[in-house]
Amino acid sequence: MLNFSLHNPTKIYFGKGEVKVLRDELRARAKKILIVTGSGSVKKNGIFDDVIEQVKNAGCEYVELTGIHPNPRLEEVSEGMKICRSENVDFILPVGGGSVIDAAKAIAVGAKYSGDVWDFFDGTMEPENAVPVGAVLTLSATGTEMNSNSVISKEDTKRKLALSTPLIQPVFSILDPVYTFTVNKFHTAAGVADIMAHVFEYYLNPLRDTEIQDTVAEALLKICIRFGKVVCMKPDDYNARANIMWASTLALNGTVGKGKISDWTCHAIEHEISAIYDISHGAGLAMILPGFMKVVLEKYGPEKFTAYGNNVWGIEGESTASESIDRTKKFFGSIELPTSLKESDISDEYFDLIANNVVQVRGKSDIFTQLNKQDILKVLHLS
Ligand code: NZQ
Ligand code: ZN
Repeated sequence: MLNFSLHNPTKIYFGKGEVKVLRDELRARAKKILIVTGSGSVKKNGIFDDVIEQVKNAGCEYVELTGIHPNPRLEEVSEGMKICRSENVDFILPVGGGSVIDAAKAIAVGAKYSGDVWDFFDGTMEPENAVPVGAVLTLSATGTEMNSNSVISKEDTKRKLALSTPLIQPVFSILDPVYTFTVNKFHTAAGVADIMAHVFEYYLNPLRDTEIQDTVAEALLKICIRFGKVVCMKPDDYNARANIMWASTLALNGTVGKGKISDWTCHAIEHEISAIYDISHGAGLAMILPGFMKVVLEKYGPEKFTAYGNNVWGIEGESTASESIDRTKKFFGSIELPTSLKESDISDEYFDLIANNVVQVRGKSDIFTQLNKQDILKVLHLS
């Protein structure tokens, strides 16, 4: 296991009715809040009303930014930055899924910076200050509720890039599984694929002395497979929603990633596809993950895939490694996710551009899943 440090300061409030803690959390730290929401789901399902009740109880003023799109856009972030400055906002409260929370995080650093906030995403500048953020999560997928990442799309250049800084880590996040009951089947399934992909980005790794991380990773994958189907079929099953919600947080809050190496190649490929075609992140991962696994298996051998097949799927024998990949693909199909690029009308038109951009973003880390341009093209053609 590699040396590591872990400091995850996000306070989690998990469970039914936990929105009630908002009053004291806000009263302690905010005078004027920017509430960030998406395209209307939280207003339809009543979550917004719950939040406003607590904001009022806390005695805080608030302003709103609504209409954040899935795959949040730079212009939406700029709009939020302007509101923060003109309204003297001292706290940002996203109420939504990964897109809404990521937009809020980007607004948080952008509001305190006089230059172009994209500088932080393309690596030109490091942020030094941010408005604090606290989140109400409504969709289980990204892990953004307990991590320091934000992913934003820039439409004119067709790029989608990530920023990672402790400055944007939420100070608290409220995770009420009931709030995910209204997520439709497609976005629920896409969320499950995203959680699994986060686990794989760490799990597919040559280090042999990370048993604890690998065992937790296998447990999270089993939970996704077992409860992933349930949440798609029975959207108001509290226990299934709760297990998936906590899995989404644990998959990307440091628990399975620390002490390991990873370069997030599969995500980098998906982000480039999303940047061009504006597809749902988790669905994009379902399309390319099996192809990615096949290339990693061919390049680096079966050891990790055999363990995955044995410990997660309970399969044994010579073909365990490749069968575990087939099972993964079938699982995505069983929760009605697309399992090929063709199903989403994505041709090979931009494969070369995607591969070049991924290589540029990933740099030259010499690690297990590192794929060169030819490998990435192979993943795309296999997908
Ligand atoms: O627009 P709204 O009204 O919010 O509706 C959303 C959206 O249409 C809807 N939804 C959310 N909660 C709901 C609901 N509908 C009914 N009831 C609810 N309770 O679901 C749709 C998808 O929402 P979105 O926020 O886009 O989904 P997700 O949480 O999967 O977020 C995806 C974004 O996060 C990024 C992705 O790239 C993508 O941009 N990621 C962020 C990461 C991070 N910050 O660590 C890591 C991930 O790997 C990922 O890259
Ligand atoms: Zn993801």
